[in-house]
Amino acid sequence: MKKNNLNKFVILTIFLLVSACSSEPPRELSSGKQIYEARCSACHGSNLEGRVGPALDAASPAALMPDSYWIQTITKGKGSMPAQRLTDQEVELVIEYIKSEY
Ligand code: HEC
Repeated sequence: MKKNNLNKFVILTIFLLVSACSSEPPRELSSGKQIYEARCSACHGSNLEGRVGPALDAASPAALMPDSYWIQTITKGKGSMPAQRLTDQEVELVIEYIKSEY
């Protein structure tokens, strides 16, 4: 009887681990990075160094701006930067990714 319970416990644990791994979205920063590469890097450089758009790295003026400024710039556009069509969550992820590079 005891052994049977242990087996059930092991099976349940494995099941929980497997389902936790498969149902979880990909680690947040990696998708923030993908969003950056797909939607921002052409203008802001693959290392945040800036191209058509200004640098966004730790030494840039943008680094000192609050998230609200970033959200506004990304979702509404600014000057020659077109508004980016991203969900609120994608906007959050991409900002989190950029700031994780500082
Ligand atoms: C088509 C090119 C282009 C794309 C794509 C683009 N940007 Fe920009 N971005 C610009 C330009 C140009 C500016 C400068 C706008 C101005 O101040 O007139 C700018 C400005 C900014 C600023 C403000 C910088 C500052 O110093 O005030 C931020 C923050 C920013 N972009 C973030 C992003 C993020 C994040 C993405 C991707 C989701 C992105 N941009 C996509 C061209 C682009």
